[in-house]
Amino acid sequence: MNILVFDQAGQLAGALARRVIEAILARPDLVLGLPTGRTPQLLYAELGTLTCETRTDWSAVRTFNLDEFVGLDGRDPESYRQYMERQLFAGVRVTPHHVGFLDGKASDLEEECDRYERAIASAGGIDLMILGIGVNGHIGFNEPAPGLQARTHRVALCPETRAANAALFDGDLSRVPTEGLSMGMATILRSRTIVLLATGEEKAAAMTAMLEGPITTAVPASFLQLHPDVTLMLDRGARTSPR
Ligand code: F6R
Repeated sequence: MNILVFDQAGQLAGALARRVIEAILARPDLVLGLPTGRTPQLLYAELGTLTCETRTDWSAVRTFNLDEFVGLDGRDPESYRQYMERQLFAGVRVTPHHVGFLDGKASDLEEECDRYERAIASAGGIDLMILGIGVNGHIGFNEPAPGLQARTHRVALCPETRAANAALFDGDLSRVPTEGLSMGMATILRSRTIVLLATGEEKAAAMTAMLEGPITTAVPASFLQLHPDVTLMLDRGARTSPR
């Protein structure tokens, strides 16, 4: 794995934003995999600014987000779909029908997961997958468990994952859904290139487990060790030795 450590989270966001813009300029119909959460917010803001400055055209870019809450659809203000609208899509003017998203309110969630797998495959697969990492080593909503799911699937969310998402629900943990839909580990690992972002000391233990520990379902991110083209972009906090 390539490991890039930045002094400031803002520098990291700027470097990755430039990489994304260059990838779109080289390939206007780039297929991007995208995370939500706190970590990519600076990246998304930077992408909005750079897109304006460079007049980059996103109209042919296709996107697939990693996950969504069960029980919410794309119109719910707390949904990850709406988060993406606020943080990125409105700013870069992605073509609405090029946005791939799981529908957490679909009547048949199993079929919804199958539909998502088919949609990713028919887009030709994901060229550049950007990931965050949970404090427990999860990626997407692939939580630590005795076994991991390969394909897009329905998953029960860990207490720490629900707590980390409470801010989206006015800090009210009781309103955070207990389940999610997520791309599976094999879906993620099929991406041609993967960049994982981590900032802050609270991610240091997960980074050490992922980089230095064995490949284990107890740390889902450790499976990235199997991929031939992964770059970790970290700030100094995320690369400190965990206490
Ligand atoms: C969300 C996702 C999650 C987050 C992770 C880190 O779409 O894929 O795996 O990347 O929970 O979240 P933050 O960035 O809020 O610490």
